[in-house]
Amino acid sequence: MQSQVITNSQAASVETTMPFFAVRDMHAYYGESYIVQGVSLDVRKGEILALLGRNGAGKTSTLRAIARTDDPQMRQGEIWLDGAPIHEMKAFQAARAGIQLVPEDRRIIAGLTVEENLMLAKVAPGNGWELEQIYQSFPRLAERRTQEGVTLSGGEQQMLAIARALARDIKLLLLDEPYEGLAPVIVQEIERILHSIKGLGITTIIVEQNAVAALKLADRAVILDTGEVAFSGTAKEVLDNTELRHEYLAI
Ligand SMILES: Nc1ncnc2c1ncn2[C@@H]1O[C@H](COP(=O)(O)OP(=O)(O)OP(=O)(O)O)[C@@H](O)[C@H]1O
Ligand SMILES: [Mg+2]
Repeated sequence: MQSQVITNSQAASVETTMPFFAVRDMHAYYGESYIVQGVSLDVRKGEILALLGRNGAGKTSTLRAIARTDDPQMRQGEIWLDGAPIHEMKAFQAARAGIQLVPEDRRIIAGLTVEENLMLAKVAPGNGWELEQIYQSFPRLAERRTQEGVTLSGGEQQMLAIARALARDIKLLLLDEPYEGLAPVIVQEIERILHSIKGLGITTIIVEQNAVAALKLADRAVILDTGEVAFSGTAKEVLDNTELRHEYLAI
């Protein structure tokens, strides 16, 4: 085997090409049920990754494992965010390190107004977005700041859930089916918001059944099939590949 001398400039270039976020060979289980079966993915800073696949492919489980929830339990693999070993952390530590998961059910807190929901998120340590910045990006929430959060429409609740994630010290936004049950015009509004967040350097992984919408927004895509990566490439490659779309996305 040839020995290699790595010069300083080579080492530096290796460092700068290290992805902002990386999952390496992640395996996760619900009890003895083996669900996430060796998933690896990379996301660069400020990029949007669409995580797609059929029902039951393991998308939600992958997001939950990345956020270090107890269920599913990650038993093998590594997760790195901006140089931090997330795989060594518990869920609350991963959140402090900047991973914010917006689950499908949105979890708006009953009995609290829109603003109180946001203020509660700001209690967490670190530098999240200020209310003013949030209201600028989400004018609908500004108009409804004194309304009880759970009385918002589905689309407004999704906006509040995303805004709440931004109110915390965020580096990586994980969105599980943000467009579910929403009218196209509201989907467009949320797309605009996600696009503007991207412009501010937030890195996002979006899971969506509405694959076309997610792919139009995303830079890159990973398709999961029974807990494994079936495809990894650019969003455009998926949009242009009829076979891939038929086989895994039914579009
Ligand atoms: N709490 C759980 N206990 C046991 N098995 C689970 C649990 N949650 C999910 N599973 C199983 O794990 C597999 C992957 O589920 P997951 O929710 O990750 O899929 P998904 O890709 O998000 O699907 P969908 O598009 O329907 O949301 C499925 O077979 C599911 O039945
Ligand atoms: Mg799911």
